[in-house]
Amino acid sequence: MTKKRILSGMRPTGPLHIGHLLGALNNWVDLQEKYSCFFMIADWHALMSEYENPQNIQKNITECAIDWLSCGIDHKKSVIFTQSRVPQHLELAMIFSDITPLSWLERCPTYKEQLREQKTRDLATYGFLGYPVLQAADIALYKAQIVPVGEDQMAHLELTREIIRRFKHLYKDDLFPEPEGLLTKTPRILGLDNRKMSKTFDNFIALSDPPDVIKKKVSVMITDPARMKLTDSGHPDICNVYSYCKIFKPQITSDLYKECIAATIGCTDDKRRLADIIIAHLELIQKKRKKFAADKKQIQDILDEGAKKAQDVASDTMKRVRKLVGLG
Ligand code: TRP
Repeated sequence: MTKKRILSGMRPTGPLHIGHLLGALNNWVDLQEKYSCFFMIADWHALMSEYENPQNIQKNITECAIDWLSCGIDHKKSVIFTQSRVPQHLELAMIFSDITPLSWLERCPTYKEQLREQKTRDLATYGFLGYPVLQAADIALYKAQIVPVGEDQMAHLELTREIIRRFKHLYKDDLFPEPEGLLTKTPRILGLDNRKMSKTFDNFIALSDPPDVIKKKVSVMITDPARMKLTDSGHPDICNVYSYCKIFKPQITSDLYKECIAATIGCTDDKRRLADIIIAHLELIQKKRKKFAADKKQIQDILDEGAKKAQDVASDTMKRVRKLVGLG
């Protein structure tokens, strides 16, 4: 039996953090064993929001590949590639944009949210409105059946399915399977300031953060605001430090819970302990990171090889698409 095909991607807009590790990468590493996986660095999608300051994208692409490899994404098992190295993404996005009603894009919740939230960027562009159309093309080009994504991407996946259904209806062809989203089971990790973990808020621990930076970042995390004194009883259920401990070292949480309520451990000690846990958790990844970072040529070779493999699949798909839409 042939393996089912997976495609997923990340935008190279800055350093990857523990949210990426827990929410996506750990899952991707497991999926490579059972599926035929395509993991894409979505630089065209990054440019949609970073077009005013694109000078970091190239560096971010390399760093992203280094992070993926250090976390266990294996280029011998999966195809790792950069989106803009495969021009067929744009060709299919163009065709999809012809058949996608404007209203589907205008009512997309992520579009409306980003326009509202991103105060420092002008996202009222033609390209940004089409964000989900390009994403649909990314997925369809590889005929992916499964797309591991976070909750925030589910709306895009639904749009992808709608576009694919419309393509099928118009051109009477089953070329593209309707992809299913795959959510991770890990509970979502909040940012250090209790908001959503994001580059915009600068409230994350990067996979590349050295131990002293991790210590500093953890030391300013918010605990239980009602616990003014060391002798006050804490409320671990509303404490972000506790929720991090639960994610990174579940085996200590029941003791920690009791100690916090009994006020036998203070927040500062608790944070020190958490910082050490995270440092230990990232140690192996950072060791591998150093090795990969020292050999940029290897990273380029891996991305070159990935681009070739992706292009092979993409050009096959586009031959068929061109026939179907009457472009020979
Ligand atoms: N939009 C995705 C994100 O911001 C990245 C992405 C681009 C993607 N193309 C994709 C994810 C295709 C899954 C499939 O996280």
